[in-house]
Amino acid sequence: MGEKNDALVLGGGGREHAIVHALSKSNVIGKIHCAPGNPGIAELARIHDADPCDAEVILALCEKNGIRFVLIGPEAPLVVGLSDTLRGAGIKVFGPGAEGARLEGSKAFAKGFMKRHGIPTAPFDVCHSEDGCAAALAKRKPPFVIKADGLAAGKGVFLPDDAGEAMKICRGLLSGETLGESGRTLIIEDYLPGYELTVLAVTDGKSFRLLPPSRDHKRVYDGDKGPNTGGMGSYSPVRLPVCIPQRTADEVMRPTLSGLASEGIEYRGVIYMGLMLIETGDETKISVVEYNVRFGDPETQSVLPLLREDFGRLALSAAEGALRGRSEAEYGGHAFCVVMASGGYPGKFRKGMVISGLGDESAPAGTFVYHAGTAKNDEGEIVTSGGRVLSVVGTGDDFAAARKNAYARVAGITFGDMHYRRDIGWSEE
Ligand code: AMP
Ligand code: GLY
Repeated sequence: MGEKNDALVLGGGGREHAIVHALSKSNVIGKIHCAPGNPGIAELARIHDADPCDAEVILALCEKNGIRFVLIGPEAPLVVGLSDTLRGAGIKVFGPGAEGARLEGSKAFAKGFMKRHGIPTAPFDVCHSEDGCAAALAKRKPPFVIKADGLAAGKGVFLPDDAGEAMKICRGLLSGETLGESGRTLIIEDYLPGYELTVLAVTDGKSFRLLPPSRDHKRVYDGDKGPNTGGMGSYSPVRLPVCIPQRTADEVMRPTLSGLASEGIEYRGVIYMGLMLIETGDETKISVVEYNVRFGDPETQSVLPLLREDFGRLALSAAEGALRGRSEAEYGGHAFCVVMASGGYPGKFRKGMVISGLGDESAPAGTFVYHAGTAKNDEGEIVTSGGRVLSVVGTGDDFAAARKNAYARVAGITFGDMHYRRDIGWSEE
């Protein structure tokens, strides 16, 4: 690869802080830029106040700073086609174009894609009307699974137990009242009971590298209670039957890549496979719950610290269409991430609370504090500015050690209204 590449990372959450941290240790990445970033990322990268969805602004930023490599964190710029614009200008981009991003941007497209290419997923109906919804619900037993077609920031999936409640949800979506345009088409599918996990695969559209399997915790309170959030914690790797990574590669990733190629969709970036493992007698079935077209948040925070290879080289070679080597990444140890949130999230919460303990000198080794919803106030103090405030990561030789380190680091941090789950990883016991 010769000379080092300067990189621009788009986004400003805990995921992007973890990505910037991993790139900062790379031998092939030079200067790191980030837009819009956050105060934690500012310690490792040059921050630009720019909107990642504004292609003209991002292109101008690249041209002004001589940036030839861009890694896109969140889904919104991918769905609007930022990658296509940047690639058109000769920039290497980690992240699919608008066509590939439909795997996340339209659940109806993703489900149809899986059906066309024989990728295992729950049987489904795509509905545009109340009659269509009623017919799709009548075919199924509770709990019902109702999904808005479009992007909904984690708020587009409903699992009602009651048929009347299900119809009410469908009406709210179809009318545009619940989620605007995102909900006017909806998917009703079979409920899959099972064990959920996330597998991220870096790909250049031909080759791929599976990263260690991880698990997210979507509900806001302990015991998986309360409303869904963007994610309250994660850990990696998850304990799995040894055949599962290979089967994920064979049953999901390879047919996904050949399906994309056969539909003329070039894909460079990461494919997030949200999987359900379903025990059926003596066999475990793998089913795809969802695709995302970007790294998971907070899964990334507990996946990247485990990699035993240069993440910058991996991401850059995917962007260049030159990914080589093994289909499973080399990794070691365990990582555990606790999200510290503002009390009230995912509903209303206060901002501007001063955060103390970020630079804890006595913090256990191998812990990292990734910033998400933070800002600097006029006094130069770090304060809360979002729902998910920090991702606190502990690493260790085993699950228990990683968890102990993460929670020890959490114990040193305080801010007004803070809330975090005490039971991340409970299902691993
Ligand atoms: P999604 O946004 O599609 O990942 O869905 C959000 C959450 O709803 C998932 O993480 C699952 O826990 C749950 N879910 C989605 N689809 C199903 C399904 N078919 N069966 C059971 N649970 C599901
Ligand atoms: N943690 C789930 C997601 O990133 O979509």
